[in-house]
Amino acid sequence: MSDYRILALSCSLFISTSLGASATVVCPADALPKPDAREALDNPDLHAWKLFIAVSRPADLTKGRGIPDSQKKIGDPGKVVWETWKLARTEVYKDDGSDPGDWNTVIDQSVKIVDPPKSAVVFGGLVPKGDKPKILFDPKETTNETRMNCETFKFVVDNELFNIEGQENFMTSSIGSGKLMRFPNESVEVKAFWREFSTSEANGDLPKRYYTYKESNGKLWGLATLHIITKEIPNWFWTSFRQKDGPPPRFPKGDGAGMPSELIGTVWENYELSGSQIDFVDTIGRSIILSDPLIEAGFEKSSCMTCHANAGIRNIVNGRRDEMPFAYGLDVDGELRTPLGSPIANLFLENFGNQGADQSVYQQDFVFSLRRAKNKSPR
Ligand code: HEC
Repeated sequence: MSDYRILALSCSLFISTSLGASATVVCPADALPKPDAREALDNPDLHAWKLFIAVSRPADLTKGRGIPDSQKKIGDPGKVVWETWKLARTEVYKDDGSDPGDWNTVIDQSVKIVDPPKSAVVFGGLVPKGDKPKILFDPKETTNETRMNCETFKFVVDNELFNIEGQENFMTSSIGSGKLMRFPNESVEVKAFWREFSTSEANGDLPKRYYTYKESNGKLWGLATLHIITKEIPNWFWTSFRQKDGPPPRFPKGDGAGMPSELIGTVWENYELSGSQIDFVDTIGRSIILSDPLIEAGFEKSSCMTCHANAGIRNIVNGRRDEMPFAYGLDVDGELRTPLGSPIANLFLENFGNQGADQSVYQQDFVFSLRRAKNKSPR
């Protein structure tokens, strides 16, 4: 190591200890294919399948988190790439709002399946007809598994978005200059939904049709749905896959690409593309619908992109976030009404844009998991 580098290293150590600032997160190179906006826009379904494969390849944890194992094929045993990413609930947004630290922290095995949606699974599978739909992914509940890749995590850490105070600073320093929050193009996040197998199911053939995870207490879970989003295009690329034995979608979109042949003969051949979304509306202005029958149960007539546009903060009063709602009561079918089509500017503007400041909601780049942030120190 040259003297220069030693000097640089000791300086940065000095700076980080003296100011208490976090070390910069260093992300592994080439963990995923390079962003490809062209393909995402021109051939979204094909692009979705490629993403599904990239994040579902077996991981090589000996090389660090998020790295695919070059010796293994898709479908081989072992944790897959996305499962080695940072878990939003416990590893990014800490209860004390503290800096989550480096990318390559050791994965705490015990928190893996604690996160899956036990209550949500039960609800998703067994909701009696006529019961009120319920938002399954209330960030205050521990009901789903949201994970982010290193570039997403790095943006959160570098901008101190991991606590409410940091988000407030980002907003106040950006609003005046009209600066938008913009995650890097390499950002990817997933949200997984697992179903629990009963003992008799677990002993039968059903689990063979699922990608499974066995909890230390012997409980067996099968991956039912995987939402994937990437920042390859400005309003993110949205896609969702589901295991085919689950409930069929109410608004099927079809698959314009078809399952890639490398998945045939692996467990992943039991998964289907529910669809992909690259815009709020189609060419004649109709709202684009994309949802999953389990994760978005009770509000399937919904749009990933439009709902997520409501991720943002209005202001922070006494350290508490004031957020945009994303459900507006029940429609005639008893389903939750959620944002559809183009975002409605007036909802984002103070006093409907009639008076006062013209900007009251500060959008947080479609990233709803930022709501999980807590206050920096106990209040
Ligand atoms: C009605 C609103 C709504 C709709 C529709 C919706 N989501 Fe979300 N989504 C949320 C909320 C709220 C969260 C935050 C929950 C959390 O922190 O885990 C979230 C979390 C996520 C996450 C975790 C990452 C993050 O920070 O936002 C992903 C990935 C995701 N959704 C993808 C999708 C996809 C893909 C679709 C469409 C198939 C979709 N969502 C439809 C509201 C919605």
